[in-house]
Amino acid sequence: MNFNGKAAFVTGAARGIGKAIAIGFAKKGADVIISDILEEPLLQTAKEIEAFGVKVKAIVLDITDEAAVRQAIYESVRAFGQIQILVNNAGIYILNDFLETTSAEWKRAFDVNVFGTMYATHAILPHMIENGYGRIVNIGSVAGVYGINYFVDYSATKGAIISFTKALAKAVTDKGINVNCISPGSIVDPTVNNTTSYTDFCFKERAGTPEEIANAVLFAASDEASYMSGQNILVDGCRKKM
Ligand SMILES: NC(=O)c1ccc[n+]([C@@H]2O[C@H](COP(=O)([O-])OP(=O)(O)OC[C@H]3O[C@@H](n4cnc5c(N)ncnc54)[C@H](O)[C@@H]3O)[C@@H](O)[C@H]2O)c1
Repeated sequence: MNFNGKAAFVTGAARGIGKAIAIGFAKKGADVIISDILEEPLLQTAKEIEAFGVKVKAIVLDITDEAAVRQAIYESVRAFGQIQILVNNAGIYILNDFLETTSAEWKRAFDVNVFGTMYATHAILPHMIENGYGRIVNIGSVAGVYGINYFVDYSATKGAIISFTKALAKAVTDKGINVNCISPGSIVDPTVNNTTSYTDFCFKERAGTPEEIANAVLFAASDEASYMSGQNILVDGCRKKM
């Protein structure tokens, strides 16, 4: 896979899976626009990307701020000329008992995970349609497919993202735009305090790495995935139970 001459916009790229995706694109020659609410780690990611000799732009952005998302995409298109790839990775998840949660928490989960994905997609689509080319990769979760009892509101948001992917793919399939979703299982970034217990979920006796998710995202964003759209691909080390 080669991304020379392409530019990718990645949300939630300060750390974890989003950071691995952004670095993965840079390693394969893409220019990268990275965004996140966390400024310091975002700038650190930008520094690491610069080492690959590609163009990088870091934007401090709250994905729930629709106007700011539109402005960030507009400015990025102006700066890069063309953006071929959007990865909607920014997301939040909180371990909880559904009965202990509040409607404010459900709304926040939907604001970040679902509406954030929709804002960025809605903002970039006219640009992709004009160019007759686009690759949109959403990040779902096994939670959105099977449901996880201690991630009830989160599971609902990820189910919405998967349905959004399938419907949007059909709506733009004749415009040269592919839309897919990558659904990770338990993924641990050792630099982030991640306490998810994973061995119950996968046959592999280890959690996945952010890079293993990035590999699947890069494929979905590549020209090699030209005949793949509207798919939700699980990257979960082979699910044992949920
Ligand atoms: N880690 C896992 O086991 C796992 C499993 C399934 C799905 N996922 C999904 O993968 C994606 C990345 O998760 P991760 O594990 O790397 O998590 P993470 O918390 O390490 O990274 C998420 C990033 O999104 C950013 N973010 C959060 N709210 C934001 C907002 N309002 N605006 C902009 N950026 C915001 C965070 O600052 C952070 O940098 C998420 O969508 C998550 O739901 C993760």
